[in-house]
Amino acid sequence: MTLLFVPSELNPKEWTEALHQVDANIPIEIWPQVSKPEDVQFALVWWYPPGVLNKFPNLKCIASIGAGVDYILQDAQRPNTPIVRVVDKLLTRDMTQYIVWAVLNHSRNADFFKKNQERKLWIPKKTAPQTRIGIMGMGELGRDAALKLTGLGFEVYGWSRTEKQIPGIKHFHGNDQLNQFLSHCDILICLLPLTSATKGILNAQLFKQLPQDAYVINAARGAHLVEEDLLTALNNNHLSGACLDVFRVEPLPENHSFWQHPKITITPHIASKTNPRSVAQQIVENYHRAIKNEPLANVINTNLEY
Ligand code: OXD
Repeated sequence: MTLLFVPSELNPKEWTEALHQVDANIPIEIWPQVSKPEDVQFALVWWYPPGVLNKFPNLKCIASIGAGVDYILQDAQRPNTPIVRVVDKLLTRDMTQYIVWAVLNHSRNADFFKKNQERKLWIPKKTAPQTRIGIMGMGELGRDAALKLTGLGFEVYGWSRTEKQIPGIKHFHGNDQLNQFLSHCDILICLLPLTSATKGILNAQLFKQLPQDAYVINAARGAHLVEEDLLTALNNNHLSGACLDVFRVEPLPENHSFWQHPKITITPHIASKTNPRSVAQQIVENYHRAIKNEPLANVINTNLEY
């Protein structure tokens, strides 16, 4: 049974090799070259054009090569089959490294010292004695980042839809506790899944609840952020800055005002990229399970949208 790979900007050769290293017998076809659409039972996808998957009548599973599945759920024409995502140690490690970098970059005044170095200025600005960090989204990625930041001596708060117990982390949940959570965040990190409930959650109303001079890090999805509201909060000096890895339109258009903004650090959606060799085993495992109609791993709850 065919595994269909819909690669978008990914390298099909690298992915095919990684999958074949786990199981050389899997017939893999690369969209749009599909010889027998009725043989396709498993689709491995990344940011594909909506409608692509409704041509495969026997599809049993749609597998995202990333942690996020919002782009699959947005495809209204997709067949009604289970959706799975990857959960991977390297993906988590890389996201945590990005978050730690962005946090330290801000909390240790890296931009200030770099600018002063250019002007040969010796100004020993002190680091704040304590920086409180709030993470929105306490799934695999949020939880790991929270624990590592706690290990670095930060006071860490978490917020998610439902209640969670995480050692060393003060956790808030639900809309009722959101403002209380936000009041503790000198740095706010967004690692939420993008759903109809979280779209635009980083908005003017939320920014108002953050302490004066708070800093925002978004490494989740561009659509979490109302860009105009961020610009207003930065320009009226309520927020001290933002580090953004994701944007409503990617690549970020050349004429976008974020590029030139002195308080915004931009990275081009590189916080954490899936490594084909690291996830091939779990994808192949799900492929075999799908064919045998066995329970799949890391299945999305389509009602919750993550
Ligand atoms: C992901 C991503 O969803 O890289 O994994 O954005």
